Amino acid sequence: MLVLGIDTSCDDTAAAVVKDGRIILSNVISSQDEVHQRYGGIVPELASRRHMESITPVIKAALGQAGITLDDLAGVATTYGPGLTGSLLIGLMAAKSLAYARNLPFIGVNHLEGHFSAQFLTADPPDYPYLALVVSGGHTSIFLVEAPGRFFLYGQTRDDAAGEAFDKVAKLLGLGYPGGVAIDRLAERGNPQAIRFPRSLMDGNNPDFSFSGLKTSVVRFVGSPEFKDVALEDLTASFQEAVVDVLVAKTLTAAQLTKVNRVVISGGVAANRCLRARFQDQANRCGVRLYLSPPILCTDNGAMIAAVGTVYLQAGCRHDLTMDAVSRIPTPRIPG
Ligand code: KG4
Ligand code: ZN
Repeated sequence: MLVLGIDTSCDDTAAAVVKDGRIILSNVISSQDEVHQRYGGIVPELASRRHMESITPVIKAALGQAGITLDDLAGVATTYGPGLTGSLLIGLMAAKSLAYARNLPFIGVNHLEGHFSAQFLTADPPDYPYLALVVSGGHTSIFLVEAPGRFFLYGQTRDDAAGEAFDKVAKLLGLGYPGGVAIDRLAERGNPQAIRFPRSLMDGNNPDFSFSGLKTSVVRFVGSPEFKDVALEDLTASFQEAVVDVLVAKTLTAAQLTKVNRVVISGGVAANRCLRARFQDQANRCGVRLYLSPPILCTDNGAMIAAVGTVYLQAGCRHDLTMDAVSRIPTPRIPG
């Protein structure tokens, strides 16, 4: 079963062809980094305009690299939310148009379910139930995933997402956009103990995250006289260390408290090398079976959307072509 998956939720135009929900035949991602770089963050209007230019070539490339035509597809899946409305609409309109023109089944996918389902595209998919940390530019949430389409919120950020904190700190330091990769590289040569930045909401097994205090603390430090004596490598390593400490501790505590010992780590920030190494090290000690998506499947991509779409299509699910973009999709908290 060949499914085309499309994602335009944020600033990447992505399309992929996946076979049987497990094998990636193509995974094309057109980055908009150079569009947003000069602004130090995503400009939604520019993102949707660029998606409009890129969507058709990206879909054509995905089909071409997979060596198939539209006639070979069993369905089209696209992200319908959460994300930037203008961006989401481009992928949604493209997918719905293709489905209508070719009389193909259409599935709208929740972007977050896409992120934690990327692990099913690897040789090491998790059994259910599992916990999923989705840590990206727009989200920092832990979910309890019981089955496809059945997942609950355990905890989430009360303010900035972790990726947003990376991007804002990088902007402050003039490191460009997106900031995560730049900080990841610089921090490698720095001393993570150089500055002690705050770790928020670490008391009493609090399931939620907060990164705005950390960001403010970095802003204050940069405005202080000590700033000129500190190497950028040490500053970024200390900031990254604070983010990693919180993400790892809270996720592993969640595994302990819920007694679910399978943990999937996904989303753009999951590509961070320090975070991956720390999870690998700590998970073993806590008896947690860790599933770290490969970096190319951590950031936004169409393959993860095709994988989820395939599961729904195989279950006989079809979505109506009137389906709309939804910028925010609340997830219910874990019952009880
Ligand atoms: O999942 P994603 O591609 O898009 C969203 O759904 O948000 O995540 C993008 C975020 C950005 O904030 C980017 O700075 C961050 O992921 N990111 C990283 C790394 N690679 C991407 N953060 C830290 N270290 C990285 N290596
Ligand atoms: Zn994402």
